[in-house]
Amino acid sequence: MILQGPEFKKHALVLVGLPARGKTFVARKIARYLSWLGYRTRTFNVGEYRRSIAGARQPAAFFDPGNAEQRELRERIAMRALDDLVSFLVDGGDVAIYDATNTERSRRAAIYERCQALDIKVVFVESICEDEAVVEANVRENKARSPDYQGVSPDEAVRDFRERIAYYAETYEPVDDEDKSYVKLIDVGRKVVVNRMQGYLGARLMFFLMNVHPARRKIWLTRHGESRFNPERRIGGDPELTERGREYSESLAAFFGSRAPEHMVIWTSTLRRALQTAEPLGPSAVARRNLDEIDAGICDSLSYEEIHERLPEEFRARSLDKFRYRYPRGESYIDVINRLEPVIVDLERQRSPVLVVSHNAVIRALYAYLMGRPQEETPHVPVPLHTVIELTPTAYGYEERRYELDPQLDSEYALSRSVGPPPVRRS
Ligand code: SIN
Repeated sequence: MILQGPEFKKHALVLVGLPARGKTFVARKIARYLSWLGYRTRTFNVGEYRRSIAGARQPAAFFDPGNAEQRELRERIAMRALDDLVSFLVDGGDVAIYDATNTERSRRAAIYERCQALDIKVVFVESICEDEAVVEANVRENKARSPDYQGVSPDEAVRDFRERIAYYAETYEPVDDEDKSYVKLIDVGRKVVVNRMQGYLGARLMFFLMNVHPARRKIWLTRHGESRFNPERRIGGDPELTERGREYSESLAAFFGSRAPEHMVIWTSTLRRALQTAEPLGPSAVARRNLDEIDAGICDSLSYEEIHERLPEEFRARSLDKFRYRYPRGESYIDVINRLEPVIVDLERQRSPVLVVSHNAVIRALYAYLMGRPQEETPHVPVPLHTVIELTPTAYGYEERRYELDPQLDSEYALSRSVGPPPVRRS
C-alpha cells in the first residue's frame, strides 16, 4: 500500500442499482484504479456467488420478491458474499467492492451495521440510468450473453432479463440516507450527486467517478522512436531521434493515415524524442510533463554497463526490487504511478480516441492500469520500441493488439531496451 496514512480506514464500496445499470462496469473501473494506486482491493460479485451456489440458469421468477423461499436463498447468498468481503478486509485488504443490486434499504442497513461494527467505512455507489436506450443496449450486449443465458436465444434472454429487472423494480428504494456517505451516478458520466464523501480516498474516488463514462474509444500507446541513447543502452537524458527513430515517426503517421484524425487526442512527453516522434502527425499533440520518462537521478545519461561499474549497489538494489527502487535524487515506479494519476483521470474523461507517445516506464504504468495488471508487474511489462499497442474497449476492459511498424528491428534489441538489465539473483 503506497498512499495511505496511519489514519486510513478500510473501505467497503457498496454498489446499488437495478440490474443492467452499469454497476459491474463501475465496480471494475474502481477496482482497477485503486489496485493500480496500491490499495489492496477486491470485488465481490453477488451474481457470481448466486451462479455457483444456486446455479446459473435461474428464470426471472427466481428474483420475484413475492417468492419467500427464493428470497430467503438470495439473501443467504448475498450474506455469504458479505462474509467473504468482511474477511478480506479483516485479513489485510484495504478496499472491498460489493457488486450487487442492494436495492432494498433493509439489505443496505445490514451491510452498514456489519461494517460499522468493524470500523469499516461504507460508501454507497448508486448507479441510476434514466436513458432507456442505454439500458436496452446493456441488456442486449452484455446481459443476454452472460453465463445466465448460455444456450438461450438472444430474444428470450432479453425478455427474461427485462422481467428480472421488473421484479427488482418492485422493491427498489433509492439511497437517501443523508447521514451516510454516498455517490449517485446518473447516466454514468452525465451527473454525479455526492453526499458526505470525506477523507483522502473518498475525495479521489469522487474525482475519478466524476470523469468515468462508458463511451467506447480506442487508446494507442507507443514509446518514442529509437533515440541516440538507445543503441548505447543509455538511460534518461534528452537525446534526439536517430535516423531509424525518424523513420518510425513517419511509419507511425502512416499507420494513422498520414495525419492524425482531427478528433484524435495526442499526448506526448516534453522530451525531444517523444516530441519528434509525434511531429509527423501534425500540430495537435499536447506535451505533458507528467508523461516524461522515469527520472533516473544520479544515473541519468549513464549506460547500464556504467551504472553496474560505477554504482554497483544501486544496480543491485534496482535489480532486486525494480518496482520500489528509487534512483538517488530520481524516481521509482511508485513515484511514476503517483504523478500519472491525473493523466489516468484525464484519459478516462476523454470521449475521443487517444494516442500517447511516451517512454518505457510511463507506458508500462499506463498499460498496467488499462489492462488491470498487478502493480508489481509494472516494471516487467514488455514494451518494445517501434511497436504500437492498440487497446480496444470491451464491456469491462480492453482487447489488445500490437503492431510492429519496423519489421527489420531485431525483436531482441527492441525488447532488451524495454526490460533493461537482467535481474541479479538473490543469494
Ligand atoms: C444476482 O443474483 O445476479 C444479483 C443478486 C443481487 O445483486 O442481489
